[in-house]
Amino acid sequence: MIYFMIGIPGSGKTTLAKEMRIDLGAYIISSDEIRIKYLRDKGYDDVFHPLNIKGISTKEANKMESEIWEEIESEMDIAVRDKEPSIIDATNVSWKYLSQWITRVKRAGNDYRFVVMETAYMVCVERNKRRERTVDESVLQDMWKKYDHTLGKFVADSELWKRVTFSLNYSH
Ligand SMILES: Nc1ncnc2c1ncn2[C@@H]1O[C@H](COP(=O)(O)OP(=O)(O)OP(=O)(O)O)[C@@H](O)[C@H]1O
Ligand SMILES: [Mg+2]
Repeated sequence: MIYFMIGIPGSGKTTLAKEMRIDLGAYIISSDEIRIKYLRDKGYDDVFHPLNIKGISTKEANKMESEIWEEIESEMDIAVRDKEPSIIDATNVSWKYLSQWITRVKRAGNDYRFVVMETAYMVCVERNKRRERTVDESVLQDMWKKYDHTLGKFVADSELWKRVTFSLNYSH
């Protein structure tokens, strides 16, 4: 079973995924952790996106970014084939991206569920301000639009809309 977390930055995906991991005995594939490890292995401890590396060309940064995504996707591929319960901790707000993964999951004879974060947009904005690594609010806005669009698409196609709800056992 593949659990796709769906939510914009600050919506609480990683926090919830960690609790789900314990309840489900699942693996977590975290796009952020893979990204951080990739950059750390290259000697960049304090950057989150290759474009933020001082003195790097856009071409080189884009190459690194696509290598990061190759690693994320290769881990996802393994999870899809292994059939162990796995949680994909990434924003997963793009309809096109999710649809492609659903096809791959089905083709492998595996199944999937969506875990949709319903955290209000303004709460995410406030949390983002308080975080160590903040993203630009325009990024949040852009992602919110995609999230909204994706949910609309899935609701319109109830066959694909396999949703499951988890709640946190503790409050912050
Ligand atoms: N249910 C909650 N109630 C209050 N605060 C929460 C809750 N869930 C998460 N938080 C807090 O919100 C912040 C963001 O949470 P988290 O890192 O889990 O979000 P995320 O969706 O994984 O974000 P990103 O996409 O940037 O990785 C953290 O400081 C976390 O402690
Ligand atoms: Mg996270």
